[in-house]
Amino acid sequence: MPARTLRTQVGIIGAGPAGLVLANLLTAAGIDCVVLERHSRARVERRARAGLVEQRTVRLLDAHGLADRLLADGIPHGWCDFLCLGRVIRLDYGALSGARHRVYPQQLLVRDLIASLDAAGRPPLFECAAVAVEDIHGPRATIRCEDGPTVVCDHVVGCDGPKGLARGALSPAATAHRRRYPYDWLAVLAEVDRPVPGVVYGLHQNGFAGMMPRSPRIARFYLQCPPGDTLSAWPAPRVLSELRRRLNGAHLPRIGALTETRMLRMRADVTEPMARGRLLLAGDAAHVLTPSGAKGMNLAVADAADLAEALISGPAALDGYTARRLPDVWRTQEFSDRLLGLLHLPAGSEAAADPRFALRLRLATLERLAVPGPFSVAFAHSYAGSGEEPVSPAGPRQP
Ligand code: APR
Repeated sequence: MPARTLRTQVGIIGAGPAGLVLANLLTAAGIDCVVLERHSRARVERRARAGLVEQRTVRLLDAHGLADRLLADGIPHGWCDFLCLGRVIRLDYGALSGARHRVYPQQLLVRDLIASLDAAGRPPLFECAAVAVEDIHGPRATIRCEDGPTVVCDHVVGCDGPKGLARGALSPAATAHRRRYPYDWLAVLAEVDRPVPGVVYGLHQNGFAGMMPRSPRIARFYLQCPPGDTLSAWPAPRVLSELRRRLNGAHLPRIGALTETRMLRMRADVTEPMARGRLLLAGDAAHVLTPSGAKGMNLAVADAADLAEALISGPAALDGYTARRLPDVWRTQEFSDRLLGLLHLPAGSEAAADPRFALRLRLATLERLAVPGPFSVAFAHSYAGSGEEPVSPAGPRQP
């Protein structure tokens, strides 16, 4: 049977935070769009990833009526503790910047965004994998799907992550700047007997460890491990003993079942430009961040917000998309990289010979973060994502 053809203004590939925010903002503005998602709705709504929603993201979602449940159930969070050489140093970034995160698991936000599209009568097409993007320099672009419609549209927005189709379709004309860090992170979701009250970063000669709140009975943990390490090297007893060792000094909850363990290859990249012809990239399709600083989801939403305004405003605003977004993308990469530098001891023999020296240097930085002053205030603003609203294509900051 020949594939059905759908005509729409904007074809969006991927129902992650970027694609779903974009679809919501466009739909509310009366722009017709279709979201294509290769996985089932149940799978997308269960996928646990990020959990710290920045202030600028909350403001944006709230301004569009998309934050009711986030504001009702998301817990405000404004401090983090650093453990180093037996000291606990608190960064009260909420007080320093006036901005707080909301702790709200990404899968719940995804569920809310899908529900809102449902209510508008424009639910994503699930189990519909895009397999080709064509004619991006013609009068109309086309997205071909496996066992799904052919979507003919004015613009294609690739919100399909770093391994998606859209990045590949852009790649001959784009440059990917990449960094591979000399370590990986074991990422664990675990049952806990009480809520984790806040973010804790442990700096330790065995390597970094982190603890993050997620929900009353689930917490996120991270453990630095050698690059290329495998899950089989981390049976549960080893995970638990390393968490206790590296987070010594934190009030650890009792940790029960490890409900998900994944190895995160620590890499970052940025694709430039973020658009070509009728194809535009947003979110992880355009740039990957490490989890350090919890920036990936927030940056994806900021891309989507800019792109929605540009698609609503018209061609001139669309032409400026890459130029408007790259400063924010690189600022965010820089912050994430700086935080990684603080949390990890440098690779190589010097640090191995005297890890206390490297830890003592970090403690000096942490002590400066703990007291009010230009250094700590600037760090706090970057950490909280107090930022200005995502840049308005029509506003004065347009280049
Ligand atoms: N066809 C349809 N859907 C696709 C295809 C395809 N060919 N390829 C990928 N997808 C879908 C994936 O199944 C996924 O649901 O695109 C979606 C991409 O979503 P995300 O990976 O969440 O990307 P994005 O919206 O950019 O959000 C990125 O959120 O998970 C956090 O911190 C993480 O930085 C990350 C941010």
